[in-house]
Amino acid sequence: MRLLFELSGEHPALPAAEAEAVAVAVDSGTRRFLSEPGLLGLELPRRHDFPLERLAYTHAIHRHLFSCPLDVAQEMLGAVRLGEGTVRLRVKGLGGALRGPQKVALERKLGGVLGEGHRIDLTRPDIRVRLFVSEKAHAGVTLFEQDKRAIEGRRPVRRPFFSPVTLHPKLARALVNLSRVPNGGRVLDPFCGTGGILIEAGLMGMRVAGSDIEWTMVEGARQNLQHYGMTDLRLFQSDIGEVPLSIGELEVDAVVTDAPYGRASGTRGEKVAGIYGRLFRTASSLLGSGKRMVLAVHDPALVPAHPDFRLVQAFEARVHRSLTRHLMVFEKR
Ligand SMILES: C[S@@+](CC[C@H](N)C(=O)[O-])C[C@H]1O[C@@H](n2cnc3c(N)ncnc32)[C@H](O)[C@@H]1O
Repeated sequence: MRLLFELSGEHPALPAAEAEAVAVAVDSGTRRFLSEPGLLGLELPRRHDFPLERLAYTHAIHRHLFSCPLDVAQEMLGAVRLGEGTVRLRVKGLGGALRGPQKVALERKLGGVLGEGHRIDLTRPDIRVRLFVSEKAHAGVTLFEQDKRAIEGRRPVRRPFFSPVTLHPKLARALVNLSRVPNGGRVLDPFCGTGGILIEAGLMGMRVAGSDIEWTMVEGARQNLQHYGMTDLRLFQSDIGEVPLSIGELEVDAVVTDAPYGRASGTRGEKVAGIYGRLFRTASSLLGSGKRMVLAVHDPALVPAHPDFRLVQAFEARVHRSLTRHLMVFEKR
């Protein structure tokens, strides 16, 4: 099964990494067959119900039809079998390819080919065909388009309990996805604050567990998660070092967390390096081999090396002028 991911241009590497992580969670045999600016092609060895709606930094997902030189795209489109229904073709240039009039002219010419076997409907087609053009042409049938309003509608200020320390839901969702947690898996956030990461994990169908040293945060997170209809909540007050005791027998598939920066989010006066050290010990005792911990931190130099974990990916996400978050993905050895 070959899928094309139409990626957001908000970050150079994070959107592709997020899509790939979810695909690997679905099928560990996933491989890249295509990587262009703004477009990623992934092949999953078997057919799956891909969790299309999970991805935060993907605009749309398409079933791959073909890739070919642009001058044979017309012929290829003519040979494609799309099934019953009305169709629409939209063309998109990648990496600055195709200016406005060129795009419209190409859409008319190639759309005409599809029109030979189907009725064209430009407003509410049954089948939406997308052609991406760079040096080559890549075609797909749209399976899913992101509803951007849904994620924006979950902005933290709209929650019953708000604190400025929380992440934007888009970034929170991407952190959960980078953990490769499978659908229905258990995500733990041991610095849960207002619950921003757990809200996204819960809305994606994960089971959630969270803790924080501050009781007010734990209760605030509870209110926020309930606000989004979540009921099976495992939330408790705990210092990061005591989490394994509080969590007991609960199995954890991934630790995903936005660690205290020692700035706005209080640490009760403790230096963050010591807190991070306890975080690694806690994560090591809870995660099995191959499982992931995804961390957002302010200063990666303060994150200690730990023999049980290897760093597999790192990204920078600029939040505003004076705050860049460093995203670090660790795998348990
Ligand atoms: C950056 S905030 C997390 C924000 C969270 N992602 C949200 O959506 O609101 C870090 C959290 O770590 C908590 N914290 C600080 N020191 C801690 C410790 N030693 N053990 C557990 N939690 C701690 C703080 O109370 C704070 O809520």
